[in-house]
Amino acid sequence: MAIPAHYIQELLQRNNVTDVIGGHVHLKRHGRIYKGLCPFHSEKTPSFTVYPDTQSYYCFGCGAGGDIISFTKEINGLTYVEAVKMLAQQSGMPLPDEDDKVSKLKSRIYEMNKLAARYFHANLNSEKGKNARIYLRQRQLSDKTIVNFGLGYASDGWQDLTNYLKSKGYTEEEMVSAYLAARSSKGNVYDIFRDRIIFPIIDLRGNVIAFGGRRMGDEGGPKYLNSGDTPVFKKSNGLFALNLAKKSGKDTFILAEGYMDVISLHQAGFNNAVATLGTALTSQQAKLIADYAKNVVISYDSDEAGQKATRRAMEIFSKEDVAVSVLQMDGAKDPDEYIKKFGRNSFENLIDKANSALDFELQKLKNQYNIKDTQGRIDYLTKACDILAKIPSPVLQDVYCSRLAEETNADKASIKLQLEQSRSRYYRNSSYKRNKELLKEGVAGSTKVDYRQQGNTLPKVVAQQNIIGMLIRDNELFDMVNTQLKEEDFTDANMRSAFTQYKKLKAEGYDVGYALLCHYLDGDTRKELAKINAGKADIITTAEDMQMHINNLKSAPMGQSEIKSASVEELAKRIESLKEKKK
Ligand code: CTP
Ligand code: MN
Repeated sequence: MAIPAHYIQELLQRNNVTDVIGGHVHLKRHGRIYKGLCPFHSEKTPSFTVYPDTQSYYCFGCGAGGDIISFTKEINGLTYVEAVKMLAQQSGMPLPDEDDKVSKLKSRIYEMNKLAARYFHANLNSEKGKNARIYLRQRQLSDKTIVNFGLGYASDGWQDLTNYLKSKGYTEEEMVSAYLAARSSKGNVYDIFRDRIIFPIIDLRGNVIAFGGRRMGDEGGPKYLNSGDTPVFKKSNGLFALNLAKKSGKDTFILAEGYMDVISLHQAGFNNAVATLGTALTSQQAKLIADYAKNVVISYDSDEAGQKATRRAMEIFSKEDVAVSVLQMDGAKDPDEYIKKFGRNSFENLIDKANSALDFELQKLKNQYNIKDTQGRIDYLTKACDILAKIPSPVLQDVYCSRLAEETNADKASIKLQLEQSRSRYYRNSSYKRNKELLKEGVAGSTKVDYRQQGNTLPKVVAQQNIIGMLIRDNELFDMVNTQLKEEDFTDANMRSAFTQYKKLKAEGYDVGYALLCHYLDGDTRKELAKINAGKADIITTAEDMQMHINNLKSAPMGQSEIKSASVEELAKRIESLKEKKK
């Protein structure tokens, strides 16, 4: 989808780079720039730098760099367009792809959902809801809990909700697209949720986005029915009670399997519990949890399926910056049952005793070696350090080093030394992999190869980078460049595409900053420019500097392939200008 420049420009104006990045990285001000620990690699001293002037960031440690959109994209694992949409949403802009029709339908669905939730809740307190009230009482839910979760009851008729929404002016099509009604083969619409307890799913802005419905008896279809995907809801992104858990202000979340577990947990005071919506944990959900919590305690059912799901969830969380522990429950099948049987304090004990995923892994490793034997001890420590090397937190690493030292009777200092080796090996490998991947990407790959084959063209490339870097900071210098240089003068493919785009945006009347230009560049060029920006942060650039770079570009030595194709006159001209410079 082509997002127009004016849209991106407004998005950039509404979202400050320090706010966007500050939501994920603790930034400290140093004069005109900000520094923090890089979220893209592990480090102890901050080399991640944010530049408000150019609205860019660059990490001197791992080379990550870009603008707010690329940051949002990388940190949340989104596509470019998804990142734009996320920023738009956060700053109250309409989404870029939405013509009026889609955004109108969305707000109609939000309205319908809200009305439906109220309708279901009112049912619960009416004559029709008598059995539902009895059911919830049996499951020991208090009135307060029922209100807190906005629980409701969908009555037994085929068209109760449908008729109600019709009376409020909604069409059948709208109800079907909201997943509140379905159409029969004869073409009539009917309520999807019938004779069920209703659990509304509410997003972080308080919108009702979907529903879950539980049957009360043993018959009447599946135990739970859930809304399918709609224009306002994606099951794989949703978390039940995230709105409440976020409000709890706690930095640990409890992840349970079911609606009833979460509700029981909240009622028992664990107001930081969330659940997925009847699906296995997805990486989007893991990211969402990691956004709001530092720790997560997986509290899945104790049966085999639950334990299998636990291992999968651990795997998914391992890619996120969140500490994971696993709760082990005996004597009950799920947290709901456990709390009813043994009480909230016992559950709290379980949480305190929950094994961290790391402990879990180290324990498994330890069992493989005989640590009474010297070689066994060395092997265990070496492998253990390889595991610890992947943890981002230095504090945690230190804690584990002490623990390992105690456990094996080894010297802590030598364990730390071993850990340092594991760490540098780990990072070497991962940055090597990253570079290789970059080379594989079409554009990056071809420019890199091209660049090397040309031999010593480095000064030319540097001049081009300097010119683009300065243009981004000072639009007034454009005429000066434009009158002296042509697009072909930019021999570096990345800088040429930057110049071409810059020129185009200028012609359309834009003030072209780094972030706007980024929108038109590939990832490699974006990073390269972020790096150039980083190098220029403290330098005030002048027209004289620009002229120098223009001269350098015109006179810098050519690569072998260029010399071959250059005409004799041109070569003579270059030799002259080089002589000139030497004087
Ligand atoms: N689930 C579902 N569809 C089903 C069964 C389960 O979507 N047919 C989802 C629901 O989100 C449910 C979760 O999987 O909450 C866990 O299932 P289960 O353990 O069976 O339900 P509980 O939440 O424990 O509900 P209850 O205690 O009422 O059995
Ligand atoms: Mn259950």
